[in-house]
Amino acid sequence: MWSELGVRTTLQGEAPAMDSFLKIEGLAKAFQPARPVFADVSFALARGEFVCIIGHSGCGKTTILNVLAGLDRASAGHVFMDGRELVGPSLERGVVFQSHALMPWLTVRQNIAFAVKSRWPGWTRDQVDAHVRKFVAMVGLLPAIDRKPSQLSGGMKQRVGIARAFSIQPKMLLLDEPFGALDALTRGSIQDELLAIVRQTQQTVFMITHDVDEAILLADRILLMHNGADTPGGYKPGGIAEVVVNPLPRERTRAGLHHLDGYYDLRNHIVDFLVTRALAH
Ligand SMILES: Nc1ncnc2c1ncn2[C@@H]1O[C@H](COP(=O)(O)OP(=O)(O)O)[C@@H](O)[C@H]1O
Ligand SMILES: [Mg+2]
Repeated sequence: MWSELGVRTTLQGEAPAMDSFLKIEGLAKAFQPARPVFADVSFALARGEFVCIIGHSGCGKTTILNVLAGLDRASAGHVFMDGRELVGPSLERGVVFQSHALMPWLTVRQNIAFAVKSRWPGWTRDQVDAHVRKFVAMVGLLPAIDRKPSQLSGGMKQRVGIARAFSIQPKMLLLDEPFGALDALTRGSIQDELLAIVRQTQQTVFMITHDVDEAILLADRILLMHNGADTPGGYKPGGIAEVVVNPLPRERTRAGLHHLDGYYDLRNHIVDFLVTRALAH
């Protein structure tokens, strides 16, 4: 389907043509039985794909991510990864939250080593340390490797969180507004770093953001989610309204984004969804 702006969209559930590595079918979550936060959520991710989900606060983005992480249970529906149904958390999936969730009494090196040792219990100290250093270097933090979180800026702490999530080489990386608490400048440079790392590692990523430009920069496809709402016909749960395909070349950069053909149409389409369709239907 094509919107009036020439933006290509698909209905939820339509998988990309490649193999569906992650498959979500008919997911629903109700904290109050009669008013599910969302229902009938279905989508798929191909291996190596970067998918962002965007929607207003309260529509259920974090709840979906927690179900994918195995930290919460859905009220209905199924999640499959590599053909197997997911139950409970696993080191196959790495998670980065908005707040960094580092252990304050451990240094950067020790925080990441802790995760690496859990993933590969048989590794020697030297193997663990070499692996840790590689991922700390990847986010440019080698000079701070022996500092504790309290001695780091907010941006540095989020970088450590990202390095830790990548260091366990998960099949799937789950990011919940990882840059939400950062100032614009820091946020921009970490977005660029993340993009470079993802291109290099071919990591499959599912990321929540409320920043339209962040989604356009990073995502191959963008899921637009609407909130649950009371309508004249009764309560309607939240869900995925549509899936937008990012037509911009994959080699895009933050600085060059707004010069690309199709950028403004894509941006306007998403902003228009958030302003006019995401809350009321
Ligand atoms: N543990 C919980 N108990 C009750 N309600 C919850 C719980 N967690 C989330 N909710 C509610 O579910 C809705 C979706 O929350 P959330 O997934 O955090 O939204 P988002 O991340 O899109 O802002 C919100 O209305 C929130 O208040
Ligand atoms: Mg949230």
